[in-house]
Amino acid sequence: MKNRILLLTTVLSLLACVSYAQKVIRISTDNTDLILRTAPDGRLHQSYLGERFLAESDIAHLPMGKEVYITHGMEDYFEPALEAHFDGGKSSVVLAYVDHTVNTLSPKVVETVVTLRDELRAIAVRLCYTAYQEQDVVKMHAEIVNEGRKPVELVRYASSMLHFRSSDYFLTEYSGDWAEEATMTTTPLTFGKKVLDTKLGSRASFFTSSQFILSLGEQATEHTGNVLFGTLAWTGNFRFTFEKDQEGNLRVISGINPYFSNYELKKGETFVTPDFIYTFSSKGMGEASRHLHRWARKYQLHQGEDDRYCLLNNWEATYFNFDEEKLDHLMGNAAELGLDLFLLDDGWFGNKYPRSSDNAGLGDWQATRDKLPGGVGHLTATAKEKGIRFGIWIEPEMVNPKSELYEKHPDWVIHQPDREEYYFRNQLVLDMSNPAVQDYVFGIVDGLMTECPDLAFFKWDCNSPITNIWSPYLKEKQTHLYVEHVRGLYNVLERVRAKYPDLRMMLCSGGSGRIDYKALSYFTEFWASDNTDPVARIFIQYGYSFFYPAKATCAHVTSWNRNASVKFRTDVAMMGKLGFDIRTDEMTDAERTYCKEAIANCKRLAPVIWDGDLYRLVSPYEGNHAATQFCSPDGQHAVVFAFDIHPSHAERLQTVKLEGLNPQTRYKVEEINLMPGQRSRLRGNGSTYSGDFLMKVGLNLFSEGTMQSKVIELKAAD
Ligand code: DGJ
Repeated sequence: MKNRILLLTTVLSLLACVSYAQKVIRISTDNTDLILRTAPDGRLHQSYLGERFLAESDIAHLPMGKEVYITHGMEDYFEPALEAHFDGGKSSVVLAYVDHTVNTLSPKVVETVVTLRDELRAIAVRLCYTAYQEQDVVKMHAEIVNEGRKPVELVRYASSMLHFRSSDYFLTEYSGDWAEEATMTTTPLTFGKKVLDTKLGSRASFFTSSQFILSLGEQATEHTGNVLFGTLAWTGNFRFTFEKDQEGNLRVISGINPYFSNYELKKGETFVTPDFIYTFSSKGMGEASRHLHRWARKYQLHQGEDDRYCLLNNWEATYFNFDEEKLDHLMGNAAELGLDLFLLDDGWFGNKYPRSSDNAGLGDWQATRDKLPGGVGHLTATAKEKGIRFGIWIEPEMVNPKSELYEKHPDWVIHQPDREEYYFRNQLVLDMSNPAVQDYVFGIVDGLMTECPDLAFFKWDCNSPITNIWSPYLKEKQTHLYVEHVRGLYNVLERVRAKYPDLRMMLCSGGSGRIDYKALSYFTEFWASDNTDPVARIFIQYGYSFFYPAKATCAHVTSWNRNASVKFRTDVAMMGKLGFDIRTDEMTDAERTYCKEAIANCKRLAPVIWDGDLYRLVSPYEGNHAATQFCSPDGQHAVVFAFDIHPSHAERLQTVKLEGLNPQTRYKVEEINLMPGQRSRLRGNGSTYSGDFLMKVGLNLFSEGTMQSKVIELKAAD
């Protein structure tokens, strides 16, 4: 009898297993797979994330894995992706698979939308994945729908949750401060949580950027290792949680930082979380970066495939101390150097409270009459006469208490009404959740463009985090402010882009205090740091190069570190989007001649440096030198930048192997960007080598000199 019962139970459970129709959802790129599968209870699990499978049939052998979007209040013991509170204090959620759709957005871009639902609580979650197949990039977010009759309070609402199972994990994070951006640190992840987050509100990535590198198993190198690059496209508070459990599984949760951000979702409303973007590579960090850069230029960066303007900025050349005559003169200098555009920085506006230092005027966007009697119109006209374009600085989301705007609209400002105001750089943040403020901010750009249609460029700054958080507009919904503030900013940027799609705009935030891929869908470039000391810049630009392409990374030649030659400073800046922020009058004739040639080289080589593939040959973190190579996608044309920073005594210099070339092609190797009269010290300069030799043996890129640089062009000679 006992045996018959056992047999019956076994048969029934086998039947249950085979009778449920398992759903398999495969989100593939050319080289990667993310595989989701339903369990017999209908819940959806992540079975795999990694290199793409050759045979579809192998997917059946995968373990089920962890639930794809773990909810609060059920059987899981670690950090959930979703926590929602319902009427009557109920709070658990169980999500079961409902259906999924696959849409081909363009031949190599496929969107998969999976719907999960908790019937008991009338809440649904849509997990949306867009796979950019050629670039191995996946963009994902969650949409949370209140299908009930009562409001739901969202407490945690992640964009993504990804699971990993590996022997070891190494996390590379970014930290920084003003003039110290993009410092990279790698540490192993041990049991428990590691959290990267910000609660600055605006200027959100001031101390840490919304990006990370995760190595699985061994620490990835440029050429080896399984590695995931992740970044959140959100211009506000973000949080990444890396949590390793008692069995060694790792979950990575990304999204808006839930700090002071409980969100009430009304009946029928949908909360769309920001995009989490990842690329996975089994061949190390170099390939992952190249994939992300190609994706960014093609799909994400505003005007990502277009040219950029090389410009002269007046900030470091004049600070607030300028007048029309000085600016006209600087514009002449810009034209003489062969630059495309002159960018007028801070200090051009305010009349009742003129902006002659950073303690007044923000908010009053009319040209200061006694400083600029001809207004912005005179300046755009002068630029035109000189044959260049004109651009202008704004910081439209901010206000100085010493301004007409503050006097007129104290209710437009974020601050606790019953507390003393706290100022960061003497200013406060406008309440972008308020539609009237959004209209005003849009009106700043629109007003300037209407008055001066020739304006070709904006530098959009943002120097203060949100402090004393309280919105007069949101009243009892204060925990919505961090979210609605960012959405308000996006509303404005949408309007700007709808009306002025071709306008070039630089994203700036006291350096790169805010940078992410959502913001960069509106901006053509970002200001990487106010620190323009070329030695520091080698590190900062290296750090950002993992995630952002060279054409988006503004790098200017300034007077920081006068011990470095103009050539060294320019060669460093030429690895990004080259610009100048220096009194060119104070340069020697030789330096000016050199700069003219470097600018011409930069424009000529834009298809290689700005639109080509990046290879980090030598990391500055490794020692005394650094080298970076850019290569055209067809491998016919390359540029190498090599720097000696602080070489040590009697160092044994090694050759550096190049990458990305065609082994059979012969390349003419030539040092460029030489000072007038300077003889190249590159061994073999002017010779022709095969790509095979250059990649197996390499070139003698380095010297024993301090702060020396070489820029080397390689052109297919056949
Ligand atoms: C901060 C920016 O990073 C600088 O480049 C400059 O534009 C100043 N703001 C102007 O106030």
